[in-house]
Amino acid sequence: MSVVSQLLRRKSLDALVAETEEPGHRLKRALGPWNVVALGVGAIIGAGIFATIGTAAAGDASRPGAGPALILSFVLTAAVCGFTALCYAEFASMVPVAGSAYTYSYGTLGELVAWIIGWDLMIEYAIGNVAVAISWANYFNTFLEGFGIRIPAWLAVDYQTALSKMPNVVAAAPHVFGIPIILNIFAVMIVTIITIVLVWGIKESANFNFWMVVTKLLVLGFFVIVCFKYVKPANWHPFAPNGFQGIASGAAIVFFAYIGFDAVSTVAEECRNPKRDMPIGIIGSLILCTVIYAIIAAVFTGLIPYSALTRTLSTEQAEPLTLAMRFAAMPNWMVGVVAFGSVVAHTAVLLVFQMGQPRIFFAMSRDGLLPPWFAKVHPRFKTPHVATIITGVFVGIASLFSSLDEMVNLTNIGTLFAFLLVCIGIIILRVREPNRERGFRVPGGTWMLPLMGAASCVFLARYLPRESWWRFGIWLAIGIVVYFFYGYKHSRLRAHPEERGR
Ligand code: ALA
Repeated sequence: MSVVSQLLRRKSLDALVAETEEPGHRLKRALGPWNVVALGVGAIIGAGIFATIGTAAAGDASRPGAGPALILSFVLTAAVCGFTALCYAEFASMVPVAGSAYTYSYGTLGELVAWIIGWDLMIEYAIGNVAVAISWANYFNTFLEGFGIRIPAWLAVDYQTALSKMPNVVAAAPHVFGIPIILNIFAVMIVTIITIVLVWGIKESANFNFWMVVTKLLVLGFFVIVCFKYVKPANWHPFAPNGFQGIASGAAIVFFAYIGFDAVSTVAEECRNPKRDMPIGIIGSLILCTVIYAIIAAVFTGLIPYSALTRTLSTEQAEPLTLAMRFAAMPNWMVGVVAFGSVVAHTAVLLVFQMGQPRIFFAMSRDGLLPPWFAKVHPRFKTPHVATIITGVFVGIASLFSSLDEMVNLTNIGTLFAFLLVCIGIIILRVREPNRERGFRVPGGTWMLPLMGAASCVFLARYLPRESWWRFGIWLAIGIVVYFFYGYKHSRLRAHPEERGR
C-alpha cells in the first residue's frame, strides 16, 4: 500500500456504527430531545457571553470593536454556526457515534485528516477550557470582592496581561531573582478541583446538567430584567462606530460564545432516537442561545456607552456584564447575583469540556493513533484517569500565565477549522454515498449550504489576529510530526484492513 493511500485510509461508517452496538460497548439510550437541547445550552453558555463581549464591543489594539452593533455580530456568527449546525445534524443523525468531528472525518476524509481534526479539537476543548478557567477566576474574584474578600492583585491575573498593561501590579508582586511572581491562582484552583472531581467519577446526569442550565438562564433573565430600566437608548448611538469591519471583528470574537453546540453530537449514542433528537438538539440549542445572546447584547450596550467602554482596561472588559452594571451605578447585590450566576455557568462549561477532551483522547487511542495509556480506565473509579489528569495539568499550567483574549482567539481559529472540515465532509459523503440513509438532510441539495458553511468559517477566521494564525499553524505542524512518528505506524486500521471503508 502506498503512503498516500495509507494516509487516506478511511474507516467504514458501517463498522463505526456496528462498534456502538457491540455488547459491552453499548451506551444507555436514555436521552430525549429536550435533554439534548438542555445539554447543548449547558455546553454553550459560559465565558463567551460573560467575558468576550467586552472586547467584541470595544475592540483592542489590533482590531476595531462592534459598538452597539454587537447584536449584529451575534446574528452574523449565528448564521455561520447555523450552516455548520445543519451539517453536524446530518452527520450525527447518519453516524450516531460518540467521537464527533474526529469520527466523521475518519469515515469520510481519511486517517490523516481525522488525526488533524483530533489534534485540532484539543484546541477547541483544552485551550477553550483555559479561556473559560481564566474567565471563571475573574468572576469568582468579583464575587468574593462582593463579600469584602480581596486577594493580592498579583495572585489574580495572568503574567502577560500584568506585564503588558498593569505596571502597578508588577511593582507590587514579590520578586525572585528579579522576576516578578504573578499567578492566576483561582484559575488553577478551579481546574484542579474539576480534574479531581472527574477522576473520581462524576455521574453527570442529565438532571444535574438541567439544574445548572436553569441557574444560568435564571441569572441571565435576572440581568435583563433588573438592567432594563437602567438602559439608555442614547447609548446605542452611534450604532456601528466602526462599520462592517467592527461588526465582523466582533463576530469573530463572540464565536467563542457559540462553541459547544457541536459537542451535542457526542451524545448521539445515548439518544433514544438520534435521527430526530440530534437535529432538534443541535439546531434548537443554537437558536435558543442566539435569541438569549441578542437580548443580552442589546441590554449590555444600552448600559454603557461605546466611548466609556473603550476607555476601560482590558481586564475590566473581561467582565463586561458586571462592568456595565457598575457603570450604571446599580446596587452591589445585583452585581453579586450576576457574578454568582456567571461562576455557575462557567463551571458547567468547564465540566463538559474537561470531560470531552479525555473522550477524544480515548477515541484516538482506541484507533491506535495515540499510545494505549490514553485509553486507560481507573480500576476503581472507572474513569479515563490518565487522559483526565494530563488534560488537567495542561489546562492548569496554561491558565496560570495565558491571557484570556489570546486563548479565545486560538480556540476560535481551531474550532472554525474543525467546522470547515465537517462542512466539506458532508459534501464528500453526499457525492460518495448518495443513497446512505440519512435521518436528517441539510436542505438545498449537496452543495449550497455546506459550501456556504465552509466559506463563512474561512470568512470569520480571517478576522482573527495574525498571531493566532501563527500559533495555530505551529500547533498543526507539531501534530503532523507526532502523527508520522506514532499514529501512522500504530494505526489500528493498518492492522485491521477489514474495517476500512470502500
Ligand atoms: N461557548 C462556551 C463558552 O462561552 C465555550 O464558555
